[in-house]
Amino acid sequence: MTAPKPVVAIDGPAGSGKSTVARMVAEALGLPALDTGAMYRALTWAVLDARIDPADAPAVIGVAHALDLDVGPPVRVAGRDVNDAIRTAEVSAAVSVVAAVPEVRARLVAAQREWIVAHGGGVVEGRDIGTVVAPDAVLKIYLVASEEERARRRQRQDDATEASGDLDATQEAIRRRDRIDSTRAASPLAAADDAVVLDTTGLSVDGVVAEVLARYKAAVEAARS
Ligand code: DC
Repeated sequence: MTAPKPVVAIDGPAGSGKSTVARMVAEALGLPALDTGAMYRALTWAVLDARIDPADAPAVIGVAHALDLDVGPPVRVAGRDVNDAIRTAEVSAAVSVVAAVPEVRARLVAAQREWIVAHGGGVVEGRDIGTVVAPDAVLKIYLVASEEERARRRQRQDDATEASGDLDATQEAIRRRDRIDSTRAASPLAAADDAVVLDTTGLSVDGVVAEVLARYKAAVEAARS
């Protein structure tokens, strides 16, 4: 029997660099990666595609239970490639409301845990990975960066979801999303008590990845002894 792969949890607010860092850390460690934000986005896309009001919780729950989701890559809903469609400004504006519904979270958290079991572990990024999805992760990283820096990063991304306006508009969109994500009753955005909080403001991606890899090495060694 092969040893189970560890889980590395990477959480943080919008634009904190989670996706890029998670992808690079997974590659360096030879682990599979799961972007849980893409799952909430895919559900939100399906809600909008069905012309359902994202604030209509019972209808949203219905879509969540019927959702035929393949986390990919590419992300697919009912066999349709929605990898780009889930990154539009419309989806970004609605996703926090959808993600605040407890039944939605229960459904997607269960799917995320199934993914972890099926892959035997991996690098999992989101908002509640260290606190709810994988509280026994060998390493929990919580990335933060100043609001301004996060808005600038979003604007630089080609597929930036909030980048349609100017920097102020981008910053406002991020602020609004963070407010909903961190004040919702069901598993809000929060650092786990045992998470390593890394402020990435002014740091290069390579610098952050190197720091995470060093922490990983130390965490695995500590878990062994
Ligand atoms: O990481 P992202 O920006 O693609 O996430 C999109 C939204 O999904 C985010 O505003 C909050 C929600 N989300 C969540 O509630 N829990 C997660 N584990 C991941 C994302």
